[in-house]
Amino acid sequence: MLLKRWSETFAEMLGNFQHNPERAHLLLSSLEEMTGYFREAVRRAAVTPGDGLLRALVIGKVDGDSLTEDEIVTNAILTMVGGQETTTNLIGNGLLTLIRHPGELTRLRADPALVPQAVEELLRYESPSQHTARVATEDTTIRDTPVRRGQAVIAVMGAANRDPGQFPDPDRLDLARSSNRHLAFGWAAHFCFGAGLARVEGQVAFTELLRRFLACAPSPAPSSGGRTWACAASANCG
Ligand code: HEM
Repeated sequence: MLLKRWSETFAEMLGNFQHNPERAHLLLSSLEEMTGYFREAVRRAAVTPGDGLLRALVIGKVDGDSLTEDEIVTNAILTMVGGQETTTNLIGNGLLTLIRHPGELTRLRADPALVPQAVEELLRYESPSQHTARVATEDTTIRDTPVRRGQAVIAVMGAANRDPGQFPDPDRLDLARSSNRHLAFGWAAHFCFGAGLARVEGQVAFTELLRRFLACAPSPAPSSGGRTWACAASANCG
């Protein structure tokens, strides 16, 4: 719960272009708490033999060089936050997308072997990480647009993943889409470190949701004036 609360605070600030300065103090205090938590965990890993990620980062060496404690703590925070909100969004938005496309949901139920391809299509169609940013280290040009050194560039993967030049009929959800070369996990040097794990988590989650629930449908929620979604458990729900 602690890790989830920290990463939600982080995501609220990072995922919003119009950062709310009044909530900045929450981000700073979460960052301070996380740093303390991971610093302690790194120090424990340094004196406790084991095969966890922190221990690997503590003892790992490349050309005789190892990471400093600050670098390990920073990477631990990045990995924890990077792996929480994104995967939660993949499962939550993916399920909502399936409910909104009953034909595709029926298709998936009829052929659960389609789940790995379906996860790729859900990553493309409702990209959990919509955008990322870089700061130019030198003057350059992207297509015909000049970018000056020090300028920020925002890459919207959510838009690239609906690019008609790359994906035929991009606004159509097609769970069996082939050649699905989406950018949901980024690209090049900073390609998502947890992509393999996220894919497995998505595949397990959707396989189990299909197995355990017979049907999901919108139902009115009179108190809030909005809608909730009700899922009927199947007989083998366990
Ligand atoms: C559906 C789930 C996920 C999505 C959509 C996602 C998306 C992304 C994207 C777009 C990037 C590149 C960011 C950039 O270039 O600015 C990235 C990087 C990263 N992701 Fe994920 N991610 C997911 C799951 C995970 C998981 C489960 C972990 C860890 C267990 C993780 C750890 C990281 C890390 C450490 C980086 C930075 C890699 C680097 O800078 O070299 N991600 N992710």
